[in-house]
Amino acid sequence: MKSLTAFLLLPLSLFAEDTPDYSEMKVDKLFETLCSGCHGKDLSGGQGGSLIDGEWKHGATEAEIRKSIAEGNPQLGMTPFSTVLDDNQIRSLVIYIREKEKEALAKGIDFPKPEPGKVTQTAHEDYTIETVADDGLKLPWALAFLPDGRKLVTERGGQLRIIGADGKLDPQPVKGTPEVIAHGQGGLLEVAVHPGYESNGWVYLAFSDGWWEKGAGKEGKDGKKADKPQTITAVVRGRIKDHEWVDQEWIWKTDKPFYTDAGVHFGTRIVFNKGYVYFIVGERGGMMESQDLNNPKGKIYRLFDDGREPEDNPFVGTEGAIKGIWTYGHRNPQGLDIDPRDGSIYSTEHGPRGGDELNWIRKGLNYGWPVITYGMNYNGTPITGITEKEGMEQPVTYWVPSIATCGLDFYTGDRFPEWKNDLFAGALAQKEVRRLRIKDHKVVEEEVILKDLGRVRDVTDGPDGYLYVILNDPDSILRLAPAE
Ligand code: HEC
Repeated sequence: MKSLTAFLLLPLSLFAEDTPDYSEMKVDKLFETLCSGCHGKDLSGGQGGSLIDGEWKHGATEAEIRKSIAEGNPQLGMTPFSTVLDDNQIRSLVIYIREKEKEALAKGIDFPKPEPGKVTQTAHEDYTIETVADDGLKLPWALAFLPDGRKLVTERGGQLRIIGADGKLDPQPVKGTPEVIAHGQGGLLEVAVHPGYESNGWVYLAFSDGWWEKGAGKEGKDGKKADKPQTITAVVRGRIKDHEWVDQEWIWKTDKPFYTDAGVHFGTRIVFNKGYVYFIVGERGGMMESQDLNNPKGKIYRLFDDGREPEDNPFVGTEGAIKGIWTYGHRNPQGLDIDPRDGSIYSTEHGPRGGDELNWIRKGLNYGWPVITYGMNYNGTPITGITEKEGMEQPVTYWVPSIATCGLDFYTGDRFPEWKNDLFAGALAQKEVRRLRIKDHKVVEEEVILKDLGRVRDVTDGPDGYLYVILNDPDSILRLAPAE
C-alpha cells in the first residue's frame, strides 16, 4: 500500500506550489526526493524495481536509461520526468545510477591485491611485486630510465631524484633544476628521457612555472595576506652532469596573461615520436578556455624536440591560433603514450565525476570538453546533458565511476609476453592499474591487475621488461615481475 500511495502522491507533489528548485539540487538529493520512494534509497528497489542489479527491462544503454527517466512508463507506474527535469538533470541521474550499479557489481568481485612474496594471478600473466623504492621519496610523480641503469624520479614538491644502477635512492636531489611553483596539484611533474639520450644527453622536465605575487592571496588568521601563485605548465630540457642540471633550454612556455592561480588540472606527460615531442597543458579549471585555439590551456602539443613549431601542425594557418597545438578540448589529461604497433597516440584524461576518458589523439581534433562529457560536477550538479556533438570526438572508452586516471603505458617488454602491446592505465582514486587490450582503436579487453596498494600516479615499463608502478600514499615505487 505504501508504494501505491507514493505513486499517487508523487506526481501531485511535483506540481505543488512549494516545488523545490531541482535545478540547483545535487544528484543524490534529486534521486532521494524524486525516485527513492519507488526505487529505494539505495536503489535496490521497491515498487519501481532495482536499478543496480544489472538487469534493465527497458534497455541498458545510457540512451535507453535516459529515455526511461524522461518518458517514463505511466502504464507500469513510472513517472515521466521530462516535464520537471531538464536534459542536464536527467543526464546526471543516469551517471548516478551507473555509479551505484557499478559499485554494487564491484562488491562481488575479488580484485587482485598483491602481497609481497605471493603470486598474483591475472587473466594472462601471473606476477609478484618487488620494491624499487619505499623510503625517502615524497610524492613521486614520474619515472624515467637512463640507458646506464639509473632511474630518474620527480617529486611533486620540486626535486629530481636519482635511483642508482645499484638500486639505491641517492639522498641528494639533482642540483640546479628549474624553480617550480608547487601549489595545488602543480609542482615538478613529468620527467622523460630523449630516445637519443646516449648521444645527446637530453632529459625533459614538465612543471608548474611561474611566480608568487606578494600579499595578493587570501588573508590568514594572523591578518596577513598570503602570497598568490601564478603558474602554467611549462617544458624544459637539460642535461645532468655530476649530479647537476645544466645546459637548460626552454621547449615550451607561454605568455604571462595566461598564468593563473588555479590549483587544478596541470596535465601533463611527455612522449617522443619521430623527432617530435608531445606534451599536455591542462585547462586549469578554465573549462571553455580549452575550446579556444588562441588560449594555451586544455591542449595537447606537438613540437620538434628542440621546441620549434612544425609547419605541418594543424593550426599553423589559423589566425591567432597557437601553432604548437596538436589537439584541443581537453580537461586534464595525465596519461600519454604511443602504440608501438602503428604509432597511434593515446591519452587518458581526468574528466569530471563519471567522465574519465581514454582518447585516441589525432591531428587537429576537438575532444569536446566542456561542451560534451560523460560526467557531471563532483558535487553532483550537472555540467551538460549532451555526450556527443558533430565535430567533437568520442572517447575510446570512459569510466563510471571515475577512476582518476593517471599514467599510461603500452607494454613493449619481453618478460610478460602475453601483455605485449597491451595498454596499462593507472588510477589514483580507485587505486588500481588497469590492463586494456586495444584492437582497431577499440578496447577489446579490460582488467584490473592490481588494486588497493596506494594511489597509482604512474605506470611505465622499463627497458628491463618489468612493469613499474609509482604509488602515492604510501609514497613508493614497485615493479611487477613474472611469477617463477
Ligand atoms: C511512482 C513510482 C516511481 C517513481 C517515483 C520513479 N520510478 Fe522509475 N520506475 C517505476 C516503475 C514502476 C518502473 C517500471 C518497472 C518495470 O518495468 O518493472 C520504473 C522503471 C524505471 C527505469 C527503467 C528500469 C529498467 O529495468 O529498465 C528507470 C531507469 C527508472 N525507473 C528510473 C527512475 C528515476 C531516475 C526516478 C526519479 C527521477 C524514478 N525512476 C522514479 C516507478 C517509479
